[in-house]
Amino acid sequence: MVDGELRSNVIASQDVHKAYGGVVPELASRAHELNIVPVVSEALRRAGVVPAELSCIAFTRGPGLLGSLLVGTSFAKAMGLALDIPIVDVNHLQGHILAQFIRQPGAARHEPSFPYLCLLVSGGNSQIVRVDDPLHYEILGQTIDDAVGEAFDKCSKMLGLGYPGGPVIDALAKNGDPLRFPFAKPHIPGLDYSFSGVKTSLLYFVRDALARDPEFLENNKEDLCASFQKTLIDILLDKLVKAVRQTGIREVTAGGGVSANSALRERLEAEGSRRGWRVYLPERKFTTDNAAMIAVAGYYRYLAGERSPLDAAPVSRL
Ligand code: KG4
Repeated sequence: MVDGELRSNVIASQDVHKAYGGVVPELASRAHELNIVPVVSEALRRAGVVPAELSCIAFTRGPGLLGSLLVGTSFAKAMGLALDIPIVDVNHLQGHILAQFIRQPGAARHEPSFPYLCLLVSGGNSQIVRVDDPLHYEILGQTIDDAVGEAFDKCSKMLGLGYPGGPVIDALAKNGDPLRFPFAKPHIPGLDYSFSGVKTSLLYFVRDALARDPEFLENNKEDLCASFQKTLIDILLDKLVKAVRQTGIREVTAGGGVSANSALRERLEAEGSRRGWRVYLPERKFTTDNAAMIAVAGYYRYLAGERSPLDAAPVSRL
């Protein structure tokens, strides 16, 4: 990133987890170790920048898998030391929250004004965050059990559709009837979420249906995905509408892997125009975990004078 503008964004995806139906922490750390040097070299090459031109290195301190965080943290420290430049740690969620501020050369800016609300939905988090400026946030509500991405992934596993579940369910749901199978929604006070009940209700529903008809899954996959997905989106939107009403903030963004979901994006746009919100959605490639969003968050922290000590330790939960 040069003066806040993105110059390259290289992602090494880890297909190694597909065979296990979920991320295997030890395999993730090993893949990070193998990938980090080639990925950083490629990012510099594509940006047309040599290491000596760098003025700061941003890295993810957490939350996440400790082994993977250790690889990135150690690498950032070593590179910072070798180049004699500062390092800045970033909360990975802060990256998702600021993804809308990733500026690409030649692309029009589409940035919310402060304060705004961010629906932060990923495999590990489901939160509504009030963002007052690039460095100050308040979590208004969050899940008390599973994250919504986890609900997508577990449902996919239950239906035998593979991992990660979100993209598969998203694709199948496009040909399904979202109103065919109603699933019960939780009643949680305030702006908090819960997704474990809806997952259990799918489990029992499928078990009973299969007992009556062994072909049920095969013949109803699309409708099941569409109905389950609609329930999750309804739950997300109910609380978001409440948050807008309570705060009076009509600038709304979304971030995290689940914000790549087509039906969620359509629904956010539709609710936005119906209710007079201004909705800003990051490009799909910036919704799942990526280095560009860490660079943006690090850039703002760097401008504010933040620096990380060499003993900054990674943390799995922040
Ligand atoms: O933000 P992310 O890449 O990683 C973290 O959890 O930090 O999010 C991954 C999650 C997974 O649960 C995945 O199933 C979900 O995002 N996801 C989606 C879609 N693409 C990814 N969920 C619904 N629809 C999608 N299109």
